[in-house]
Amino acid sequence: MTIYSRIRGTGSYLPERVVTNAELEALVDTSDQWIRERTGIAERHVVAEGEGCGDIATRAAEAALDAAGLTAADIDLLVLATSTPDQIFPSTACLVQQRLGMRGGAIAFDIAAACSGFIFALDTADRFIRTGGARRALVIGAETFSRILNWEDRGTCVIFGDGAGAVVLERSDRPGILSSHLHTDGRQEPLLNVPWGVSQGSEALLRDPLAGKVTMRGNEVFKVAVRTLGAVVEEVLQANDLEYGAIDWLVPHQANIRIMAATARKLGLPMERVVVTVDRHGNTSAASIPLALDVAVRDGRIRPGQLLLLEAFGAGFTWGATLVRY
Ligand code: COA
Repeated sequence: MTIYSRIRGTGSYLPERVVTNAELEALVDTSDQWIRERTGIAERHVVAEGEGCGDIATRAAEAALDAAGLTAADIDLLVLATSTPDQIFPSTACLVQQRLGMRGGAIAFDIAAACSGFIFALDTADRFIRTGGARRALVIGAETFSRILNWEDRGTCVIFGDGAGAVVLERSDRPGILSSHLHTDGRQEPLLNVPWGVSQGSEALLRDPLAGKVTMRGNEVFKVAVRTLGAVVEEVLQANDLEYGAIDWLVPHQANIRIMAATARKLGLPMERVVVTVDRHGNTSAASIPLALDVAVRDGRIRPGQLLLLEAFGAGFTWGATLVRY
């Protein structure tokens, strides 16, 4: 018997505070109209003082467990994708493991692949399950990008938001995750990065606090993202012998409405079959796909048996796509 993994439940959490484009007009030289037209974003959520990545990840995980009709005791693997962990160590996955009350000894670790993190985490959990290393997994994407934004840089501060999404993945004899396609190319790393890390020491950060903030050459990233995502969705269609238009729902990483529209065109899909949350969430990096998935599952658009294509592109560059029978 072939072993597969299937999504059994989804959940998400958004911090209470909403920051509108109008509020950003007061911070930087921008306009609501520019942000809407160039990105599709109207508002985003931002964590409260003292609210961390582990907190919002835990809320999303609890919602996914609820939806699956399971408790933390049923989970034997937790994979958490983030670029904004609470501590250097242990991983945020360890913090979430204890907060959820998961069994001690269950596996928990973080994955860092920037905005592609959830796709990388989902593939990792799927491989654990298919090879018998785990039976049920929580796969979480959680980010607090508001902490690493330069709020004086209009090229980045209008784009990102905070949030968390999660899925429960379970061993099954029916196909769920059908194929995953991951890629990395570090050669263009300077186009999108946070050019500081603990290995450089805190003195470096004291000399230049902006070293701990996101830098992005947006227009160049945009062009690579459109080209690369077009290629990876083509790769999925070919690998699975699928016609254009065969996908029921495209659930893309929510970076920019124009990037999503270009990928939908490539797949022969009208925008009505693309799950769009960027208008209300902004770009929540590794959290954006599970957030969008949860929204469309809960409002009834995504139904059991449908074919979903999840795709993401992010710093690294990293990119990937996953074909899912929901
Ligand atoms: N408000 C108003 N003007 C802005 C602005 C803002 N928030 N941000 C940039 N601009 C200005 C630029 O300074 C530039 O002005 P100039 O022509 O006087 O130099 C002009 O708008 C055009 O800038 P450009 O960067 O070419 O715009 P763009 O159409 O590429 O849109 C992004 C900018 C960032 C929205 C877009 O490039 C993008 O979404 N990139 C990909 C981002 C992404 O996916 N990142 C994460 C990957 S996970």
